Amino acid sequence: MRDDIKEVYFTEEQLRDKVRELGARITEDYRGKNPLIVSVLKGSYIFMADLTRAIDTPCNVDFMVVSSYGNGTKTSGEVQIIKDIAQPIDGRDLLIVEDILDSGVTLHYLMQILAARGANSIRLCTLLSKPERRKIDVNVDYLGFEIPDEFVVGYGLDYAEKYRNLPYIGILKPHVYGGEGE
Ligand code: PRP
Ligand code: MN
Ligand code: MG
Repeated sequence: MRDDIKEVYFTEEQLRDKVRELGARITEDYRGKNPLIVSVLKGSYIFMADLTRAIDTPCNVDFMVVSSYGNGTKTSGEVQIIKDIAQPIDGRDLLIVEDILDSGVTLHYLMQILAARGANSIRLCTLLSKPERRKIDVNVDYLGFEIPDEFVVGYGLDYAEKYRNLPYIGILKPHVYGGEGE
């Protein structure tokens, strides 16, 4: 599996430091608010587990399963909700947790749906963002890292459902996804 990785982009230590920093900011901002922290699966599962343990104030957690990429490297433009959150959110302070913001299609769609259900506030925390790829503007409240347009995997992020379990974030060798050599 690791032979498919061209380069480690963020080490476990860099990820741990960033998660701690984000967790501390979120803790300050949400003290006394009992936020509902919503993980967008599957990509955010590892980030969610680490981030929520870095948040030191009472909160609730819930999970949505959304998919727009299927098995390819490009968004299909259609966002499917495979599993919704299991509770009413009117009056709640929501924090959406994503692994990566790419075209913005997934998050834009999700934020609209959740806003329509009467949440008191909705903020977004994403570990990674690729600004070059944005098709729809999405406001990010808590950002880990901005990255260039490289296909990254690991720490929850997949290519064709593989590599999610890598403990670091790496760049795939182009031949793995049929890309041009670099
Ligand atoms: C990926 C990623 C984000 C979304 C970002 O999910 O985890 O959720 O795409 O892309 P966008 O900004 O262009 O919408 P994917 O659909 O691959 O599902 P997964 O989380 O199960 O891997
Ligand atoms: Mn995802
Ligand atoms: Mg994916």
